[in-house]
Amino acid sequence: MTDTAVPPAFKADETYTPEGQYTFANSREGVRRLPFPFPDDEYMYSMNLEPHVPAGDGAMRAAFDIDEHYISECRHRVQMLEEMPGVHYVALPHMMEAQWDLLELLFESYARDYPEHFTLTKNGNEWHWQNRLLGIDDTFTFGDPSTLELEPMEYATRQAQGEFVVLEERDGDLVIGAGMTTQRADYSLRFNVGMRFFEFHGPVPKLHEMGILDRALKFLLRMKPGHPVRRVNWTLTVNPRLETSVETLPDWAPDRATVTDENAGDLVHLRIELQPLHRLPRSNAIVFPVRTYLVSLAELVEHAPDWAKRLHRALATLDPALVDYKGLTRYHASAVSWLAQYDDGAPLAGGYPWADGGIQPGA
Ligand code: HEM
Repeated sequence: MTDTAVPPAFKADETYTPEGQYTFANSREGVRRLPFPFPDDEYMYSMNLEPHVPAGDGAMRAAFDIDEHYISECRHRVQMLEEMPGVHYVALPHMMEAQWDLLELLFESYARDYPEHFTLTKNGNEWHWQNRLLGIDDTFTFGDPSTLELEPMEYATRQAQGEFVVLEERDGDLVIGAGMTTQRADYSLRFNVGMRFFEFHGPVPKLHEMGILDRALKFLLRMKPGHPVRRVNWTLTVNPRLETSVETLPDWAPDRATVTDENAGDLVHLRIELQPLHRLPRSNAIVFPVRTYLVSLAELVEHAPDWAKRLHRALATLDPALVDYKGLTRYHASAVSWLAQYDDGAPLAGGYPWADGGIQPGA
């Protein structure tokens, strides 16, 4: 990666680590374009899968969203891969075809949705890729790994925001075969590789009993290339820390005890996950990208006051089993009490913000 002329909308050197002093922050526009994941005042898991079609001019505009943090986040990925080799990127040998499928999907989508930043030129299997945001200009032969410095999935996803899990379809099930997960929310990639759909969802409470897992798997197995679907998920993270894997838990879990009623606005971050799923054409694999967005409670109150009210209500009424599973027990009450100051109880619109009539950020 070389330094390049960075458009002003992009912040090139934010940090997501304590060593870097967590300089990450959102602009007002950055907050108001978020895929805010609370359609109602009360939250519970649901079959919230919908077609991944462009909607609005925020995070749902493109197939793979990039925002003002793109450059910083790509740098953070390189840093995490170097600090813990073999922990954040794993690909089983038989996933090579799926790796090329993913590279193609990502590069074609970026070039189509952001032509000012990315260009993909194909001459048969000889491909020319230009990524002006990261100063990359490469040619390679599609399908021939010897023409790239890195494996195709690692090469492509080092230039992408969000994490990527690739699953192969086997005996009517989905099995994890590869992952680039430098921003995992509290699970281990190495532990989960080779696991099946019900197995890797094993720790999640209620999901199985509610019948959601059965229905979700059936739905995913019917997916066709070119017809992606999406869902949103969320949790909370103390400090704007992207890398919260099981492997580094001793580094970040103690931060939970630093939250008070007074500092919760700055320390506690809503962590939104936009998960668009795609069937890949040659390998028949499925890619599960997790595009993670961090926003502090204080940024929400300042730039999206209605979303802050909604978050207050959803957290205040959250099922204790979810409070526990999401690891919020230590600071849940402080987050709720801090947000309560800014909730006047006024009725709020129902529905996701990108749906017609859905909840908007507020004035
Ligand atoms: C096929 C792609 C998918 C993969 C690779 C995947 C992977 C995961 C993993 C690794 C976890 C964390 C489990 C742990 O605590 O160890 C998780 C949590 C979860 N997954 Fe999935 N998942 C996928 C699709 C889905 C779908 C389609 C749904 C529902 C329609 C779903 C619903 C959930 C829920 C509700 C949680 C708990 C999240 C929370 O409370 O923070 N997942 N998933």
